[in-house]
Amino acid sequence: MNINGKELAHGIIQGGMGVGVSLSELAGNVAKQGCMGVISSVNIGFKEPDFLKNPFEANIRALKEHIRRAKEISGGNGLIGVNIMVAVSHYSETVKAAISAGADAIISGAGLPLKLAELVKNSDTLFAPIVSSKKAALLLCKTFSQKNGVLPDFIVIEGHKAGGHLGFSKENLVEDTCQDNLQILKEVLEVIKPFEEKFQKKIKVFLGGGIFTGEDMADAIKAGADGVQMGTRFIATDECDASDVFKKVIVDSKPEDIRIIKSPVGMPARAVYTPLLQSLDKGKTFFADKCSACLTACPKGDKIPYCISRALIAAVNGNYEEGLFFCGENASRVKEIMPVKKLINELLSDCNAALAR
Ligand SMILES: Cc1cc2nc3c(=O)[nH]c(=O)nc-3n(C[C@H](O)[C@H](O)[C@H](O)COP(=O)(O)O)c2cc1C
Repeated sequence: MNINGKELAHGIIQGGMGVGVSLSELAGNVAKQGCMGVISSVNIGFKEPDFLKNPFEANIRALKEHIRRAKEISGGNGLIGVNIMVAVSHYSETVKAAISAGADAIISGAGLPLKLAELVKNSDTLFAPIVSSKKAALLLCKTFSQKNGVLPDFIVIEGHKAGGHLGFSKENLVEDTCQDNLQILKEVLEVIKPFEEKFQKKIKVFLGGGIFTGEDMADAIKAGADGVQMGTRFIATDECDASDVFKKVIVDSKPEDIRIIKSPVGMPARAVYTPLLQSLDKGKTFFADKCSACLTACPKGDKIPYCISRALIAAVNGNYEEGLFFCGENASRVKEIMPVKKLINELLSDCNAALAR
């Protein structure tokens, strides 16, 4: 498919996964297969020697290097996107740095990316918001069209089965009363249609959150999506940038281990119930005295039981005891770690077979 002048052979986006789960190795190898690999920008400089002293500079430096490296690995195939959460400090500077380093697309969620159209103006970088409802899709299309005279190049819908922070209420998630993925897709397609007609432009739509098989992908396409966004399955790949411990936590997880938690940033999130969460339930605190103000939505210092960034960095580094392991609802269905190429080939052939039936 062609997204506003950029060619994407297959409708699969590997969702951005922070901290450090989707960096250049995973994103570059996904792009190599003709899909969109997405680097997560959040605290991407965590391996830089000056990260704790100068997190902003370390993050920008590492982001640019990972975009360069991902493009090198991709060999010019597919597309390299960067996931930049609205909730990160220095959002605008990070978007600008990703554009200047040659990112093909910026994808932003965890808040409404109302400034994104303005920030990508005069570049050939595509831009896409992540939404979990038709309300958000409508508001963003209205804002971008009225303020900037443009529409997003694509939209990612993130349903309630996704990993990481979620755009649904904790009650709905726990009681399993969230709107179904295909229903959200239907409603989003309806609300964006008048904008597409007015601007004579097709907004490509990708559906994510719990997409596990090629059949799931075919269901999304049959319901009008142009493709899918997938996260959890890409963690269990050889090329995923997370530690082997992280991959093992996913492969070993059972349905009862996968919990909805309240993140310090105020949003619900989904993670595996490992020792960190077990200890927090008993009233323990972790890294709470070491705040580097990396997320705008996070209350500072002693108002939080743990620093989510440090817990996520611990996970990606393989610290089982203190790590926070984000995952999608279907993590317990993951049974093996495989090369990215095998996973994508399986998904595409199963999807094509389901579409032909
Ligand atoms: C470990 C992990 C980290 C994630 N981090 C982010 C993130 O930093 N920003 C974001 O927009 N989404 C994040 N997500 C969501 C994914 O990009 C993706 O949309 C979602 O997981 C799709 O659902 P699935 O995992 O069921 O395929 C994360 C998901 C996981 C599992």
